[in-house]
Amino acid sequence: MSAEARLRMVGHFAAGIAHDMNNELTLILNHLEHPDISLMRISVRRCARLASNLLSFCKGDSLSLERIELPIYLANLAPSLPAPGVRIHIDFEDALPDILAERFALRRVLTNLISNASDAMRGHGRIFIYATPGAIEVRDSGPGIPPEDLERVFEPFYTTKPSGAGLGLAIVRDLMRLQKGSVSVRSELGKGTVFTLRFPTVPAQAP
Ligand SMILES: Nc1ncnc2c1ncn2[C@@H]1O[C@H](COP(=O)(O)OP(=O)(O)O)[C@@H](O)[C@H]1O
Ligand SMILES: [Mg+2]
Repeated sequence: MSAEARLRMVGHFAAGIAHDMNNELTLILNHLEHPDISLMRISVRRCARLASNLLSFCKGDSLSLERIELPIYLANLAPSLPAPGVRIHIDFEDALPDILAERFALRRVLTNLISNASDAMRGHGRIFIYATPGAIEVRDSGPGIPPEDLERVFEPFYTTKPSGAGLGLAIVRDLMRLQKGSVSVRSELGKGTVFTLRFPTVPAQAP
């Protein structure tokens, strides 16, 4: 890859890191009034981890994928997802294979999808996270996305929000590729939107 192409990729990844770090910093700022030290510590650690991810990315390191048992992972993650005023429901098919993914990258992916779903529903309604073999669906009952905009939503800087950065879904797509998976979207106006994440799988370990 040419130095120029590499620099472009790093710039792209760095914008994503800045975006996600900004969300963590907002969380920390919101806690300064009534400090919850343990939550703040976790957020600070995530900021440090984001910074070190950027350094690894610049060095050309790939993400190391690990076996993840989705029902347990999702149950642990759900309480910390950013969806003020919105209920998150988690459900999964029986006998799921484990997926191969990187925990922190997966967290960034789900955080960005949930934050968009929550924006779309303006703080009212439900978000469903549904795990099927090798896939996670994030479904909302927001206004939906017009068919002509569906593919554009993953473009960097595409946003329809007055103060949006348009980076969340670009990050989601990058992080899914880095995990050797993919993301797709379907949507129906007036009904809602479903983002589907697909991952490599491995048979679940015997208990
Ligand atoms: N769940 C959703 N429902 C409706 N529109 C969505 C949803 N998720 C994303 N979008 C659309 O895709 C655009 C890009 O999303 P994103 O890349 O996260 O940037 P941002 O949230 O800063 O606008 C949003 O501005 C919105 O128009
Ligand atoms: Mg967003």
